[in-house]
Amino acid sequence: MSKIFVDACFGKDTQYTPVWMMRQAGRYLPEYMEVRKEAGNFLNLCHNPKLAAEVTLQPVNIVGVDAAILFSDILVVPNEMGMKLDFLVGEGPVFEKPIKNEVDLDALLGGEEAALKLTYVYKTIKIIKEQLADDKALIGFTGAPWTLATYMIEGEGTKTYNICKKMMYSNPELLHKILAKVTEVVKLYMEKQIEAGIDVVQIFDSWAAAIEPAKYNEFSWKYMVEIADYLKAKYPHVPIIMFPKGIPGFLDEVYGNFDVFGVDWSTPMGYAKEKLGDRYVLQGNMEPCRLYSKEATTECVEALQKIMGGKRHIFNLGHGILPDVPVENAKHFIRECHRVSKK
Ligand code: CP3
Repeated sequence: MSKIFVDACFGKDTQYTPVWMMRQAGRYLPEYMEVRKEAGNFLNLCHNPKLAAEVTLQPVNIVGVDAAILFSDILVVPNEMGMKLDFLVGEGPVFEKPIKNEVDLDALLGGEEAALKLTYVYKTIKIIKEQLADDKALIGFTGAPWTLATYMIEGEGTKTYNICKKMMYSNPELLHKILAKVTEVVKLYMEKQIEAGIDVVQIFDSWAAAIEPAKYNEFSWKYMVEIADYLKAKYPHVPIIMFPKGIPGFLDEVYGNFDVFGVDWSTPMGYAKEKLGDRYVLQGNMEPCRLYSKEATTECVEALQKIMGGKRHIFNLGHGILPDVPVENAKHFIRECHRVSKK
């Protein structure tokens, strides 16, 4: 059966414009909170294929999105490379021993060895595929090497990125070595996700905006393109979505063999369409906080439909849904996207 979501990623004309939401499987759903309680904590949930599959399917069944996104986290990759990871309540992710030098980097597992440690993710994908309706797509994902490296170098979330930027300008060789090692793992990790059954790949460069436009290609984009090239050579039928958050200054320079460009909420959709709409399908880009109001949601969905005209577009938020959004409002967003775009 053809999946409307996959067709839309390839720019085919579909009966309506499909929609999903970044971070759609998460804390705004009471059903998620119940399963997370059962798992004990967030990382246990990522490590448990049966429960991770269950929360992956929740937004499809409860909210009505057209694609599921694998439940996991971008940080399981550095974790399985050998960096001890904790999610502290109220503080977010923390790595015990951030990378400071080449010795720290060399101590980490690379390539196939690291990718094989992520077997619980591939198992989760297989369980999801047994249960997901044939007409719905499953999106697998990875963090971009740059976004992963920010956590591996800083050891936690950061407002200033001063430690990795110090490395960028004073020891770029080391930063490139880190990025290259992560890129090798990610290529194999995504290949194994595809072999396990995902229908679509999304690469999250959530902290793209931390890099000045003149340096963005060198330290992030070219590694994302390297991953896309590797996957496209082997799996041309699997669409790839790139989501670099907050780089309107780079849109003129975007290149690469991928299918969908994820537009973040700070970039006007009309501007993205003018720059990239002929070459890529565009995904996005409602400001996630509009979900607090049904009227503000409808206004944005109608505006996006007007700009894109139901062509070469996938509805989404311009970043992740927040935990205090009412479920009813999330359902309203999905219904409105289907309503305005139905042919
Ligand atoms: O529906 C989905 O998208 C769920 C799968 C998913 C999670 N994280 C689950 C999660 C995905 C695709 C991610 C990606 C991710 N993780 C990114 C890129 C996407 C983005 O939003 O920019 C980033 C930067 C991370 C790193 C990360 N993981 C942070 C900074 C945090 C803490 C922040 C927070 O919101 O608390 C996490 C934890 C995390 N990942 C949660 C979930 C549901 C919350 C954990 C919990 O308390 O249950």
